[in-house]
Amino acid sequence: MKIVKLKIINSRKSLLIHWDDKRKTRFHSIWLRYNSYDYKTRSKQNGQRLITLNDIDQNILIENAVFDKNILKLKFSTEKRHFNFKQSWLIKNIYDVEEKNNGKGWISEYIKIWDSKFSQNLKTSEFTKLKANKEELIKCLTRLNRYGFVKITGGPLESGSLMEIVKLFGYERNTNYGKWFDVRSEINPSNLAYTGMKLQGHTDNPYRDPVPTLQILYCLENSATGGESFVTDGFNIAKKLNEEFPEGFELLSKYPARFEFKGAKGIWLYSKKPVIELNTLDELISIRFNNRSLEPVLDVPYKHMENYYKAYRRFGELVNDPSMSISFKLDPGESFIVDNTRVLHAREAYSGHGTRWLQGCYADKDSMLSTLNSLTNFNNVEAL
Ligand code: FE2
Repeated sequence: MKIVKLKIINSRKSLLIHWDDKRKTRFHSIWLRYNSYDYKTRSKQNGQRLITLNDIDQNILIENAVFDKNILKLKFSTEKRHFNFKQSWLIKNIYDVEEKNNGKGWISEYIKIWDSKFSQNLKTSEFTKLKANKEELIKCLTRLNRYGFVKITGGPLESGSLMEIVKLFGYERNTNYGKWFDVRSEINPSNLAYTGMKLQGHTDNPYRDPVPTLQILYCLENSATGGESFVTDGFNIAKKLNEEFPEGFELLSKYPARFEFKGAKGIWLYSKKPVIELNTLDELISIRFNNRSLEPVLDVPYKHMENYYKAYRRFGELVNDPSMSISFKLDPGESFIVDNTRVLHAREAYSGHGTRWLQGCYADKDSMLSTLNSLTNFNNVEAL
């Protein structure tokens, strides 16, 4: 894509660019000036902006526009100097496009939703390779970004080894459960996770705001009968619910649920967030589903409450549907990472002979994406 012609339009307040593929795109004078990457506007060291929008005259006009050697040179009415814009930068930052109506709950094209068939081509990452090989790490983090789930094998068997997984891409998120926590049967458990009972698919800690965005579950011992792990793509469940019961989808995304945890002395966590969260563009961005910590829902009008619970019930049925999940039993040294804003995890009950000792911790997705962006020199956040 190349610039073939320039025209100053809109009473000199915009620039029209003709491209060689017949596209025409407009850029506003104020947008161009504010986003200039010259070193008087942006720091040479860190790229941060040195001026504010208020430093630019709101009536700024384009006086002259020339394209030469892949550089657009602009002269504005407010300053004597020229401003240069790389053609490649302009292509990347075109905003004059038709507004799309993707419908409520649309999912980014960079996200691949999945069901039980995902297990057929599930790729695992080997811990020592992740540590030693940048390409392996890129593949693993790219999969985590795309599918919200990765499984890692061959890790060390010492307590706390899950911190080695976190160190590969970011930082742990400390909570009242500690930097990491043991997931095994306890006599007086502060959380039902610390028992042998079956746990329905859930996202962790919806009672926190912000919610932990990544969770690592790491196996140290697993000789007990049962205790298989299940993971489910919550975005796929939301999509299915939207297809078969749009009114229910609307209710779960429009009205907040309330979540609470006060299972330990001095702890009383409470949040008011929807089960299905959309952003201001109606894009599906987050799932919160946790039967153990859902409090009475108070924000749904009386006339909608029955349908709200009908939708919540259907969501739960889909969470329990084996065709929506993949299952596996972790061996010692194996772990998995889930995007806790999207993928639900569950476990079968376990009991009898042997032991089951997992450790869990939380980490931040933004630092993982930061690492992936840096390794690939590509803005993966923007891709989402
Ligand atoms: Fe959990």
